[in-house]
Amino acid sequence: MIKIRVPATSANLGPGFDSLGLALKLYNTFTFEEKSEGVEIIGALDEELDKDNLVYTSMVKTFDFLAYKPKGIKINIETNIPVSRGLGSSASCILGGVMGANEIAGSPLSIDEIFDLSTKIEGHPDNIAPALFGGLISSIMEEENIYYNKIEIAKGLKFVAIVPDFTISTKKAREVLPEKISYKKAVENVSRVSLLISSLVNGRFDLLKYSFKDNLHQPYRGELIKGFDKVLDKIYEFGALGGYLGGAGPTIMALVDENDKDFKLKIEDFLKSINYNWRVIELEIDLSGAKVI
Ligand code: HSE
Repeated sequence: MIKIRVPATSANLGPGFDSLGLALKLYNTFTFEEKSEGVEIIGALDEELDKDNLVYTSMVKTFDFLAYKPKGIKINIETNIPVSRGLGSSASCILGGVMGANEIAGSPLSIDEIFDLSTKIEGHPDNIAPALFGGLISSIMEEENIYYNKIEIAKGLKFVAIVPDFTISTKKAREVLPEKISYKKAVENVSRVSLLISSLVNGRFDLLKYSFKDNLHQPYRGELIKGFDKVLDKIYEFGALGGYLGGAGPTIMALVDENDKDFKLKIEDFLKSINYNWRVIELEIDLSGAKVI
């Protein structure tokens, strides 16, 4: 039996659209067995218990790539990462499938090959990279090539996921993005993303609130979430150092001083007064990434 644990991720981090992401200590666990025949999937949501299941389809792509033909497969999925909420649940399923297939086939793939294959399945690297390598990762896709770099951030932060009770698919969230933005807005994003990375590395957490503003996706996707601007304002009012729309949303992320005990209680209390039911989860950064356990 093969067991693989993959962390949740938070992508974009404000101005780092499609290029920045970090791993969080919240995990999906996938167990795989090669059987004598058939495909059996347990533990997924009802609508995912068939051959369209993302873990299974990612395994099939990996087996095809490796020219390996399993007789049959049993997959058990233990889900803790909220689905379609901007916390990297799809990336975790893709990596689970690719890594599971690689283990079954005798581990022929290097970690960079696992990254390459998984990123091509997902279409962008900003969730796959931190889910696989852990920590905060910057990454780019250039034609067929994908480049990444791990960024060591200063200690002292916790990450608070503010998760509403509805889903937004990445497909839908990408459809609302504009085709073009102005030169001025592009320059603003470049300056913010560089300020963001340097502030995280140097521990200049006082600069985070200026760094997280974004022109590329947050204004458009924020419209899909009633009360988004209000929650973001309250995050800062209650003492957060930074806040942004997590991945494609609808989760809103807050960066908070690790010793702050009041933020969670205050934001939970406020959320009772607005639309949706919200869950607030305090998380630490995961530095190890996906693991065969
Ligand atoms: N960078 C991606 C997006 C993350 O924002 O669309 C979600 O998969």
